[in-house]
Amino acid sequence: MEGTMRTPIIAGNWKLNKTISEAVALTTALKALVVDATGVEIIVAPSFTALAAVSDSIAASNIHLAAQDVYSEDSGAFTGEVSAPMLKDVGCDYVIIGHSERRQFFGETNESVNQKTKAALAHDLKPIICVGEQLEEREAGQTEAVIKSHVTGGIAGLSAADLLSCVIAYEPVWAIGTGKTATPAQAQEVHNFIRGLLTKAYSAEVASQICIQYGGSVKPENTAELIAQPDVDGALVGGASLEAESFAQIVQNVQ
Ligand code: PGA
Repeated sequence: MEGTMRTPIIAGNWKLNKTISEAVALTTALKALVVDATGVEIIVAPSFTALAAVSDSIAASNIHLAAQDVYSEDSGAFTGEVSAPMLKDVGCDYVIIGHSERRQFFGETNESVNQKTKAALAHDLKPIICVGEQLEEREAGQTEAVIKSHVTGGIAGLSAADLLSCVIAYEPVWAIGTGKTATPAQAQEVHNFIRGLLTKAYSAEVASQICIQYGGSVKPENTAELIAQPDVDGALVGGASLEAESFAQIVQNVQ
């Protein structure tokens, strides 16, 4: 049963890249390349400034829209922030929450990830909750402890129904942007551990339905072997999502 009921999700995290015109050029090319893709959910996550134009560009396509972050409050005196209702309004279906770069550079914590997750869910946005250990943590044998705190902290207080709207992205920090991908076995080990955590916290049935993406130097060449792992249900792609051809090739390689 496992693996057969989960549709793989390939998401492109564009990070701090692409002006509006560059973003539209990318999705215009991408749309044509993935028009026939089936059995895979395709997502792009542009910067806030390009969301509206990309939303228009992909309106009649099989590509979904995500934001790269969200604030936990809906409105008010929070200068510089963007809320879940605003993201819904611009056409987002998903939002990336707790990316390691936000944890590292912008003070994101398990608590803020949890608040943002709840805000997203309250407005029918699907959170892509990012978890992952740093190199020193892996070398110190702390991978499972870190993953456990990221996962349980991020989803604290969610009902099973809410959890079913969430995606988890396992992104070992040492693999992000380094060209050093986790081996399929390393990814599978942590994905299986995450599914075990969800089984304990909810049930095997709930856990078996949650999509767990891998992220960290995913490229067309390594996609198939990662996705072949029983608990790897897609990819969160940074660098290789910035070119239509390489991102489309990744989509192709999961089918
Ligand atoms: P990368 O980034 O594919 O460039 O390693 C992945 C991510 O940070 O989501």
